[in-house]
Amino acid sequence: MTRKKLMAANWKMYKNPDQTRAFFRDFLPLVAGHTRDEIVVCPPYIDLYVAIEDAKGSNVAIGAQDLYWEKEGAYTGEICPSMLLDIGCTHVIIGHSERRQYFGETDDLVNFKLKGALEAGLTPIVCVGEVLEEREANLTEDVLRRQCLRAFHAISAKKAAKLAVAYEPVWAIGTGKTATPQLASAAHLLIRGEAAKAFGQDFAGNLRILYGGSVKPENVKALMSEEEIDGALVGGASLDPKSFAAIVKY
Ligand code: PGA
Repeated sequence: MTRKKLMAANWKMYKNPDQTRAFFRDFLPLVAGHTRDEIVVCPPYIDLYVAIEDAKGSNVAIGAQDLYWEKEGAYTGEICPSMLLDIGCTHVIIGHSERRQYFGETDDLVNFKLKGALEAGLTPIVCVGEVLEEREANLTEDVLRRQCLRAFHAISAKKAAKLAVAYEPVWAIGTGKTATPQLASAAHLLIRGEAAKAFGQDFAGNLRILYGGSVKPENVKALMSEEEIDGALVGGASLDPKSFAAIVKY
């Protein structure tokens, strides 16, 4: 089974539109002609328009870091799936651990957001992962099972076709601690198993499961060599064009 890897940048709350322009000016030539992997950059909302303009006609897709699931309405401060689609976004990150941790995002909200994204035709990257206390208490498997089960609830395999998942152990995010390729692989296998239960074996075999958490140019190759790892979701190391290009081209 060959799954094209998805190399995704999550800029979090960094860069303004000028800095976004500067990034693409330097980044695009570095990855020009790179077709082995799919590349996506997810900047803050206010940079999306600039990013989409700059990346037009290139091999780099643009995604958002979040969305709201309703089609439109009185939801001050929110952005709906069709707004993202209309400006040219193709991907969206859902359920990042920072949203779960700081903004009260529950498994149910992740499920609503996932449904909204799929309904609109966006490619969702759903994040799951355990915090350190959960790992230390041997709860990793329970947590991943619960997060997947709830995220995938009442979604058909047909609807879910574009789904990608990112395994991001929370203790590895922004800490410089990376999961070993073996540890990540084991988590990915478990997630694939949950996807098989929800959507069937064939679907699970095609599902891309990204690893995220302190991915750097120095450790990306070992991670990507694992058969179970189908790409990377990169935070800190994606802010610098050279560093993200090196990751993409590992
Ligand atoms: P990091 O972040 O690469 O800075 O650890 C990854 C993420 O949060 O998606």
